[in-house]
Amino acid sequence: MAGDHKRLVESIARLTGFKLEDDKLYLLESRLSDIMKNYKLESYDEVCNKLDQGLDTEFIGKVIDQITTHETRFFRDESLYDALVMQIIPEWLERNMLTPFQLKGHRLKIWSSACSTGQEAYSIAMMISEKFPSIFESLEILATDISPATIAKAQNGRYTQFETDRGLPARFREKFFQKLDSGEWQLSDVIRSKVRFQKHNLITDPYPNGFDIILCRNVVIYFPEQIRPAIFDKLKKSLSPDSVLILGSSETLIGYSKNYVIREFGLARYYEFPEKVTFF
Ligand SMILES: C[S@@+](CC[C@H](N)C(=O)[O-])C[C@H]1O[C@@H](n2cnc3c(N)ncnc32)[C@H](O)[C@@H]1O
Repeated sequence: MAGDHKRLVESIARLTGFKLEDDKLYLLESRLSDIMKNYKLESYDEVCNKLDQGLDTEFIGKVIDQITTHETRFFRDESLYDALVMQIIPEWLERNMLTPFQLKGHRLKIWSSACSTGQEAYSIAMMISEKFPSIFESLEILATDISPATIAKAQNGRYTQFETDRGLPARFREKFFQKLDSGEWQLSDVIRSKVRFQKHNLITDPYPNGFDIILCRNVVIYFPEQIRPAIFDKLKKSLSPDSVLILGSSETLIGYSKNYVIREFGLARYYEFPEKVTFF
């Protein structure tokens, strides 16, 4: 069985970047048992054969959904959202010589990569709608994830009571959500229309580009150390000059990338890549 595990761990790492550590191997059994039953697969070797063939994308999507961690919530790391509206966007305006009322055709382009079920992207859209209604009109958010099931849920913009209780301020729930007969909360089309969801694998897919702000939070931490520099390099290339990369609170560029400036706002920390780095 140990040999079996090893091959499966390698297939999953190749596919998702996730390296399951030995103390997490027990998760494989509980998370894959239903899929194995449904697809009549008797061993991890058979699972690997199907994954490695790469032909059945629905099967691959189901395995990815089960293996990856989708934990997220509205306004996770709250101070980041204050940083966004009190420092990052005002500096974006200044850099481009704009004001909120004179955007001169500029669009604010944001990428929420590894967006899980969409709370991060929607939190940004709600915050910008409240603080900068004129910029909201020109806002474009791309939100991506490897997992088809999370993307489908994100697109619906429908959340349980529990999910909205976790982090969503009451004023946003009142303004942008409607309670359904099922007890769930439906996010308004006004906010949903600002976010375009797409399936994207940070390990294997080409990266989109031209973003003013990229969030890549709480995902790289699951990737093996040796592939992190390449991921950060690609994220950097996806940014417009002088733009902003935001990682999770326990993730860092230190030791993995060069020529960045660390910025802070309250408890939030993010990274800029100036065209010319000035050392004082
Ligand atoms: C822990 S959640 C983080 C969600 C959100 N960024 C946050 O911080 O609240 C990690 C997400 O990364 C996604 N993910 C895992 N591997 C990925 C990959 N190789 N490419 C893109 N997304 C990936 C998972 O499907 C999951 O939804």
